[in-house]
Amino acid sequence: MDKYYLTTAIDYVNGAPHIGHAYEKILTDIIAKHYTQRCDDVFFLTGTDEHGIKIQKTAAAKGISPKELCDENAQKFKDAWKALDIDYTRFIRTTDEDHEAIVQKIFKKLVEKGDIYKHSYEGLYCSGCECFLNPKDLTEDGLCPDHLKKPEVVKEENYFFKLSKYKDAIIKHIKAHPDFIVPQFRANEVLNQLEDIQDISVSRAKSNVQWGIDVLDDPEQSIYVWIDALSNYITALGYDTENPSDMFKKYWPVDVHVVGKDILKFHSIYWPAILLALDLPLPKHIFAHGWITIDETKMSKSLGNVISPTGVLESFNLTIPDPLRYYMATSAPCGRDGNYSDDDFKEKVNAHLANSMGNLLNRTLSMLVKYFDGEVKEEFKADSDLYKLALDTVKKVKTHFDFFEISEAAQEIVQLVDVTNKYVTDNAPWTLAKEEKMTECGQVLTTVLEIMCVVSALIYPYCPNIAKEMARQLSFDLNTKLDDLTCNNIKTGKLITKEEIKPVFLRVDSELADKSQKVKA
Ligand code: MSP
Repeated sequence: MDKYYLTTAIDYVNGAPHIGHAYEKILTDIIAKHYTQRCDDVFFLTGTDEHGIKIQKTAAAKGISPKELCDENAQKFKDAWKALDIDYTRFIRTTDEDHEAIVQKIFKKLVEKGDIYKHSYEGLYCSGCECFLNPKDLTEDGLCPDHLKKPEVVKEENYFFKLSKYKDAIIKHIKAHPDFIVPQFRANEVLNQLEDIQDISVSRAKSNVQWGIDVLDDPEQSIYVWIDALSNYITALGYDTENPSDMFKKYWPVDVHVVGKDILKFHSIYWPAILLALDLPLPKHIFAHGWITIDETKMSKSLGNVISPTGVLESFNLTIPDPLRYYMATSAPCGRDGNYSDDDFKEKVNAHLANSMGNLLNRTLSMLVKYFDGEVKEEFKADSDLYKLALDTVKKVKTHFDFFEISEAAQEIVQLVDVTNKYVTDNAPWTLAKEEKMTECGQVLTTVLEIMCVVSALIYPYCPNIAKEMARQLSFDLNTKLDDLTCNNIKTGKLITKEEIKPVFLRVDSELADKSQKVKA
């Protein structure tokens, strides 16, 4: 594997980021960090989707310019991702000059090719979705099913993209590549949607939507948000219709687009059609994650249950984002909906990260100090069945990541920690020490420390700060690639002193939870 290119959806900036936006960025960052452990060159793209009628209206209501609103809110997204240790390579904004210029060229190329044509149209527009809706998809009351709002009747002369021309090619591609859409059960939904697919509007009249990229040679029209937004995945790499950059040649096709289930249609139908029209290869995978509810209820401004990810960190007084990252990443099996609840959050991170994993390392190092003054002796190094299990776990984790099973991969790590805890209980190194079976006692402790090196590597994508602290205490090099991982990392000699042992994660204190602080996204 010589490169790995992955992207998130780009978020609308009419508000601050909420925990649903954060869920996707955490999942993608975990995949990115995992792949940095497998290849040297990972490009992780995220950003914000800034044009469209909704931004125009929100800005007008606030009495500021759309650009001012975008600047203000895009910064909130960047700040949140920093607090969550989301290490993107580029944060693209659809108002970036390089992006806007290339989108205009893409549009022009498709017009020249005859894949975009002008047509007078009357349709039902949902500004929440920023798209025209098919009347058959509305609720019984004529509302948008996602936003529960009545769509506007819009009559305009627009440019249309010949989506129908690419229908058969996309159906063929989906059928021939069962791993194109992940999880696979979503592929059938997409195939059904493809059945009655029609050409789509790709511009809006400037008289109705001013906040958009101008169509070159036709200043009366602005490019419609989805073609603008989807193109970010190639403009960010310096794609150019005439002379694509070296970066584009290196990273395209993308290895995975990570998106929410609600926008899978745009990514698995519209976007592949645009790419085919541009004669570009299709994405390798599109991973559609599920949605996060709050206390089993859909998040909504009217219910006042929209949770800010940084609000969660603040209300639990967390100085590192690791517990929230871990909790979110394990909140649902691949592609299914997950849930956030304060109680569940506390319970899970305390059980998994503090009690099981953190304590295991802490106890083991403390015993090494108590019985051996922190020294690992040559005779402590012995083979163990646990080593095979640990290296098998590495393989299983890799396979799960190949299928974007982030939560399932974490379960394998938890299982390895559980088995190791049981190994300590069964072998009771404290009893061995009492019986003065010191070599055996040292062997048990060293075995556990070897496993913890593997655990620190595997947990790193989820909990980078905890993993670094574990690795520090184990003198283990966290930059070790997963394929080079062995169970021979602990060096003989003095490993640690009493003062150097620190809990890697302190239990989340339930007293600190102040719900009112969190409801502020
Ligand atoms: N701007 C478009 C995406 C364009 S991608 C070329 C958009 N923006 S969004 O802000 O509405 O959503 C951004 C991402 O956040 C989407 O993938 C969406 O599914 C995800 N989520 C929004 N709310 C969510 C939850 N409650 N739970 C999980 N993810 C959710 O769509």
